[in-house]
Amino acid sequence: MDITLIKGDGIGEEIAASVINITDALNADINWDIQTAGMDVIESEGSPLPMRVLESVRRNKIALKTPVTTPIGKGFRSVNVQLRKELDLYANLRPCYNLPSVKTRFDNVDIVVVRENTEDLYAGIERQVDENTAESIKIITRKASERISKFAFDYAVKNNRKEVCVVTKANICKLSDGLFLNSAREISNKYPNIRFREILVDNCCMQLVQNPNQFDVLLLPNLYGDIVSDLCAGLVGGLGIAQGANIGEDYAVFEPVHGSAPDIAGKDIANPTAILLSEAEMFNYIGNIQAGNQLKDAVLKTLRDGIKTADLGGNYSCSKFTKEIIARL
Ligand code: NAI
Repeated sequence: MDITLIKGDGIGEEIAASVINITDALNADINWDIQTAGMDVIESEGSPLPMRVLESVRRNKIALKTPVTTPIGKGFRSVNVQLRKELDLYANLRPCYNLPSVKTRFDNVDIVVVRENTEDLYAGIERQVDENTAESIKIITRKASERISKFAFDYAVKNNRKEVCVVTKANICKLSDGLFLNSAREISNKYPNIRFREILVDNCCMQLVQNPNQFDVLLLPNLYGDIVSDLCAGLVGGLGIAQGANIGEDYAVFEPVHGSAPDIAGKDIANPTAILLSEAEMFNYIGNIQAGNQLKDAVLKTLRDGIKTADLGGNYSCSKFTKEIIARL
């Protein structure tokens, strides 16, 4: 099966090498259609997201992606945001759970963050009103809010989850977050077997760091979803292990939660766990459950055996950690 592998910036090269080597050893019948994106291709192709990348995902329907750098406060628009918009990948799914041998403050954390992926302040509608004033427009629509709410409830039903908790700031953003909240309320009525809960985002953050075990599925608009999913990643061991997926009606792009980590790029110390768990989810999504289980089990067994990269307190390089996973497939 042809699957697009998007190679981005920073640690992208290292974690993509881990993916390629492990997938070869898996014998999963995957033919990677490798596409580069990000800073390095701007010079040669004039865009960080050349058309060939989008065409490849449209052709193959499924992609696995390493992170792409987005310049801060200036420069080109986020490749990630463009990709999600262009392919209408409206649901961002980020499961956060404790992994073996990864010591954290809390045990038995098992939270799934469902983040709306196409609008909110991420729509990037901004303007400089005058020299001293800037304006960003927050777009929330009923269509997108209902669609992501339905996704969260369907996910809960399919995965035996008990509760969906919608997270907003509807006390302040009464119209925009109010619309998101009302849409979630309406959709919740169609799912009588799933408990529905509402919480304000500030309180949610406090509750998450005090007692994360109370949460099950969290449903959030784009920006809060971005921030809260990094918080949840921190609860279970950090960005090196946090997997993710962007899902739409026609296409799905699997990618870790973390960014291009320029501070550790090129040093062979990045943790490939997040992208490998994303890849395992990708296998499940395309119906290759055997490869999904085999890959996830090997990653978890490696961690259980105390083999870890530096971000988790270990001393294995990305490439050595990869070899240990291959030995356990
Ligand atoms: P980041 O996630 O790249 O890094 C934050 C911290 O986590 C750093 O200390 C980094 O070393 C560490 N870290 C991240 N992934 C790791 C891994 N696999 N193993 C070990 N340590 C890891 O976030 P940052 O620094 O805020 O962003 C860097 C760039 O990445 C920015 O340009 C940002 O826009 C972009 N970014 C891209 C994303 C994507 O492509 N989906 C998502 C988030 C950020």
